[in-house]
Amino acid sequence: MAHPHLELTARPRRNRRTPAIRDMVRETELSPAHLVLPLFVHRGPDEPIDSMPGTNRWSVDGLVGEVGRAAELGVRAVVLFEAAPDELKTPTGDEAWNPDGLIPQTIAAIKSAHPVTVVMTDVALDPYNSDGHDGIVAPDGTIVNDETVDVLCRQALTHADAGADIVAPSDMMDGRVGAIRETLDHHGHTEVGICAYTAKYASAFFGPFRGALDSAPRSGDKKTYQMDPANSREALREMELDIAEGADMVMVKPAGPYLDVVRRFAEASVVPVAAYQVSGEYLMIKAAAASGWLDEQAIVTETLCGIRRAGADVILTYFAVQAAQILS
Ligand code: PBG
Repeated sequence: MAHPHLELTARPRRNRRTPAIRDMVRETELSPAHLVLPLFVHRGPDEPIDSMPGTNRWSVDGLVGEVGRAAELGVRAVVLFEAAPDELKTPTGDEAWNPDGLIPQTIAAIKSAHPVTVVMTDVALDPYNSDGHDGIVAPDGTIVNDETVDVLCRQALTHADAGADIVAPSDMMDGRVGAIRETLDHHGHTEVGICAYTAKYASAFFGPFRGALDSAPRSGDKKTYQMDPANSREALREMELDIAEGADMVMVKPAGPYLDVVRRFAEASVVPVAAYQVSGEYLMIKAAAASGWLDEQAIVTETLCGIRRAGADVILTYFAVQAAQILS
């Protein structure tokens, strides 16, 4: 057999032959414009977060510096989380809507230093709730829906008043998107968007984040409001409701273990789809890379590309700055 060859009309490898050809036919684009950087702020100096190596709890000034570094690399969107001290936590989480609170201060500081950066905020009570739940806990242990939505509306309004571009309710209470939309509109904030955490699953992947904020539930779990990881049809129901209530974006969270849900959203949604690569997904990669078991840079771009390929327009990821560096 001197020159063995198969009679093939189709040889898919032709499109993979050189870097230029591969670049030309690439289907999924990964660029910093699609990335949102989650940032933690507290009342204290900048300090590393033990449960999430490579991330920090920032002072307001430190955080504004990080926003600037991200913007230089093309990451022009951030989402803010506060690590609140125990003395500010109460059963109704009222610090959530304190107009002089740390989140409003941080929003204002970012907006004055980096007006172009999109400031997103988390709307939920867990950082401020002495029970560590996203909503108010009744004496019998139930997380009450409608009373919670009332507080969430105040929280969203406080963020909008301080200059937030987009509020992101992560609480999973029923009807909160519509109620927040109405509150914002009633107060003249018709331009402030809502990115709804639409399919937020009761996930063990949030563990390191709760360590970062010291916000784990003091008792019980979040299964009566966050979704059952076994369900995806139910996610479509949540999606239809959130869009009908006025959501400007719908989110799936976590991202990597729920790519099928991202895909279902991408096919069915008329608004942009976001996905959140959460703390546990981040930590798994960091831990494996620290042991020398995986190539961190390659894994970061491959996981983010996978989330985009599944259909996410927007990705929230603690790797946003690192990914932007790799891509530049
Ligand atoms: C709180 C909130 C959580 C996350 C974002 N907002 C935690 C939770 O619901 O318990 C998780 C983010 C992450 O794990 O990176 N409403």
